[in-house]
Amino acid sequence: MDFKRHIAARIKAERLSQDEICAMLELPPNTQMGDFAFPCFKLAKTMRKAPALIAADLAQSYPCDGVVVSAQAAGGYVNFRIDRACWAQRAVGRVLAERGRYGASDEGQGRVVCIDYSSVNIAKPFHIGHLSTTVLGSALYKLHAFLGYKPVGINHLGDYGTQFGKLICAYRRWGSRKLLEEGGLRALNALYVRFHEEAEKDPSLDDEARGFFKQIEDGEPEAVELFTMFKDLTLREVGRIYELLDVHFDSWAGESFYNDKMQPVVDELEAKGLLTESDGAKIVDLSAYGMPPCIILRSDGASLYATRDLAAAIYRKNTYDFYKCLYVVAYQQNLHFQQVFKVLELMGKDWAKDLVHVAYGMVSLEDGSMSTRKGKVVYLQDVIDKCVQKAQAIIAEKNPALENKEEAARTVGVGAVIFGALYNNKIKDITFSYDKVLNFEGETSCYVQYTCARARSVLEKGGAAKDFSVGEVNAQEFEVVKKLSEFPDVLHNALEKYEPCFIARYAVDLAQLYNKFYFDCTILGAEGKTRAFRLALTEATLVTLQNALGLLGIGVPEKM
Ligand code: ARG
Repeated sequence: MDFKRHIAARIKAERLSQDEICAMLELPPNTQMGDFAFPCFKLAKTMRKAPALIAADLAQSYPCDGVVVSAQAAGGYVNFRIDRACWAQRAVGRVLAERGRYGASDEGQGRVVCIDYSSVNIAKPFHIGHLSTTVLGSALYKLHAFLGYKPVGINHLGDYGTQFGKLICAYRRWGSRKLLEEGGLRALNALYVRFHEEAEKDPSLDDEARGFFKQIEDGEPEAVELFTMFKDLTLREVGRIYELLDVHFDSWAGESFYNDKMQPVVDELEAKGLLTESDGAKIVDLSAYGMPPCIILRSDGASLYATRDLAAAIYRKNTYDFYKCLYVVAYQQNLHFQQVFKVLELMGKDWAKDLVHVAYGMVSLEDGSMSTRKGKVVYLQDVIDKCVQKAQAIIAEKNPALENKEEAARTVGVGAVIFGALYNNKIKDITFSYDKVLNFEGETSCYVQYTCARARSVLEKGGAAKDFSVGEVNAQEFEVVKKLSEFPDVLHNALEKYEPCFIARYAVDLAQLYNKFYFDCTILGAEGKTRAFRLALTEATLVTLQNALGLLGIGVPEKM
């Protein structure tokens, strides 16, 4: 169904391969002009002819056929028109043949892509600041799998650091197993906050905490047991959220996993003459690259976040032999990753070029509260709960007789949270608004889900499309057809740019075009060929919307 290829094969342009011509084909600004446009500006130089003249010649000599019905010059472009019925037959036919696999490909075959995402910190709140990394990473994971790559999802847990000594100290003084069992992560966080308050009055607490941290490092059973309890409690709680959001990991190797894997890195840095001393610390000087030094060991010999990331990158390369390794981490850590990547490059790791920091912007709530501001932590669980409750209220009002209301509300509410975080280019800071993400008429997942429910109900009444043979295709139908056939390209581009928002936007566009068709054209009341085609178009839309939402981790309620 590759019309670009079909067109390109018949364009004769000196020195351009078919692939190049194919890549040059554009979509004209409006459908009136044609379905594809070939720009002749690039050719002007080599052919020593004005683009408009080249276009006129190409159009004149172009051999139209049953697929391409016209080729017309307009300025420096040749506009091609595809036979609508042919397009519709092939596009809808393909979706209905491939179904849940429509849009999938094997372009990534044989390539492993590590994706480091969510990467929560043990004993710290799982707050709205983690929303983007979690859902972006998860969407990239699913997308890579769909396009034939072998993704490895890694939760690089923040499970190492002096804060665990503080926690043990606080737990010993003011905590209990019961308190944590009942209060969960919030209780754990409260202990942590209390430690800091009390340590301000009594600095000896800090020494005590350091002692406990050392005990963890030395493997003292009691300290390790407490630490393990904190870790289990955190993982249990975030696990519930991951389940709601349909997020999965293949590896939970966190920072502490690299405890015994850093010394070889330090040795290698030393051997390669990259380490220098500065105030007792060991650093890699990066001033030649306009960056502050990357600190490898503090003056007390302790390793740092960057040291662990160096060890982790090397470990991942050795273990998975990745084609790319993505780090889905907020842009606040831009410098950190630039430094780590540069150090690996200086170590002579030629694969350092395959490390990608997929940076994203911040999420704040409408009332101005942000993820990290003191005392104003917005728990992700609360945001999800609130969206589900609101979805419940909306459904109760719109469709009180609906069966499985609870389940539908969960799917709608969770979808709203995910879609809200994925709808914009990832680098943009976003303000999360409950009303906006749950607007059934907006650019939202519930709008898309509602469109699916509408399509499903049409199919229930009209019967699923078995055979269809397309006759006339009107403008509304054709817009849907064209959108449907864009899906594979959209997925390819979303992966190239690491932008799941392309998929989210696509879903809204397709839903809008389908709804226009739905309101302008009779489906069930139509007859013969027309009816069969419209049902097929409806089914193809449903399939494609479900595939798109599924890649974002969003389900579709049976009914809404
Ligand atoms: N736990 C870190 C944080 O919350 C994110 C870790 C990202 N991954 C990495 N390999 N550094 O800031």
